[in-house]
Amino acid sequence: MTPEQIAELRREKYNARVLRLIKPHGDLMIVRVRPDYPLAPHKPGQYTALGLGNWEPRFPGAAEEDLQPAELSKLARRSYSISCSILDDEGQLLDRENVDWLEFYIVLVRESEKAHPPALTPRLFLLKEGDRLFLGEKITGHFTLDPVQPDDTVLFLSTGTGEAPHNYMLWDLLRRGHRGRIASACCVRYRKDLAYLSIHEELMRRYPHYLYLPLTTREAETKDHKVYIQDLITSGELETRLGQALDPKRTHVYLCGNPKMIGLPEKNRETGERVYPHPLGVIEILERRGFQTDVPAQKIKGNVHYEEYW
Ligand SMILES: Cc1cc2nc3c(=O)[nH]c(=O)nc-3n(C[C@H](O)[C@H](O)[C@H](O)COP(=O)(O)OP(=O)(O)OC[C@H]3O[C@@H](n4cnc5c(N)ncnc54)[C@H](O)[C@@H]3O)c2cc1C
Ligand SMILES: NC(=O)c1ccc[n+]([C@@H]2O[C@H](COP(=O)([O-])OP(=O)(O)OC[C@H]3O[C@@H](n4cnc5c(N)ncnc54)[C@H](OP(=O)(O)O)[C@@H]3O)[C@@H](O)[C@H]2O)c1
Repeated sequence: MTPEQIAELRREKYNARVLRLIKPHGDLMIVRVRPDYPLAPHKPGQYTALGLGNWEPRFPGAAEEDLQPAELSKLARRSYSISCSILDDEGQLLDRENVDWLEFYIVLVRESEKAHPPALTPRLFLLKEGDRLFLGEKITGHFTLDPVQPDDTVLFLSTGTGEAPHNYMLWDLLRRGHRGRIASACCVRYRKDLAYLSIHEELMRRYPHYLYLPLTTREAETKDHKVYIQDLITSGELETRLGQALDPKRTHVYLCGNPKMIGLPEKNRETGERVYPHPLGVIEILERRGFQTDVPAQKIKGNVHYEEYW
């Protein structure tokens, strides 16, 4: 493709610009994106799409693609939850209502177990501030705070960048003076993968009803006795740290990230029975303790809400 063709495709397909880009480490980014158009109204917890052209270069070392010429002029698009840094540069609760950008929290996938190499993140990780990209105009999703009452306990449980939508919902709860306990636990490989850690620590100092529980699984001191999100619940540690039992009548649990942590049951085609996956996921643990998971297809709104990233 000639530089002129690429410039034309970028003009035609891109509708937003990178406003701010922070890389806590080489494989993790917090990026703020400002669209050329007014942002659609949306709710914390929802997601939209980001995209870059297949013609854009890929991160060195990422799995190579074998694209047909016809695919080269297309966009690689993926869904991304909207994240939130919760505090502004002055340390005050962010005035999100008056901003014209969205924040995203993204990990670089260099290789995929799927048949196709990862399409988008190897390109996103070459972006610089000021660069152009595609941002979906539609913001959507059922993973929101709609069912939460002011005195409910709210638990956000995530792996990796799955804390993105939780941070935006947490911002909303703090802003509206939520009275119930709020806890956010995030399980990552290494401590450096907790990009929002210092913000959560500051929030815990300011809000006594807020608790952040970071878990690492590959640090020297944790790799031989990993504590997954599931273990946090089954060991009773979550309840101890929360200072209360997990009561399905007044608790909403939000699960986001690795589908194995979430453990969504599948329906047996012959019997119609729900079958929990192996290894044990959080949904099975919670349902055995009286919680009800959302079933969007049947419009069942429970107290366990989930967003699977793949
Ligand atoms: C509703 C929704 C919201 C999402 N929000 C986010 C987000 O806020 N931040 C984010 O980093 N990703 C998010 N994702 C995943 C995102 O859409 C992409 O799949 C991901 O960025 C990788 O894109 P890719 O094209 O490079 O590789 P893909 O071909 O899309 O994925 C390749 C493989 O990478 C692994 N993978 C994908 N995403 C992740 C991830 N986040 N963490 C660990 N492993 C992963 C899976 O094994 C997957 O099969 C979300 C997905 C969905 C469905
Ligand atoms: N994080 C990094 O430093 C890093 C660096 C380079 C590239 N990447 C790439 O980024 C992608 C995603 O990495 P990620 O670390 O953000 O996400 P991830 O692989 O989903 O891991 C996030 C956390 O979930 C844990 N986990 C794994 N299986 C689980 C299960 N069954 N139940 C509960 N928790 C479980 C992981 O523990 P385990 O330690 O047991 O897996 C880890 O602590 C991968 O493609 C990876 O190659 C990541």
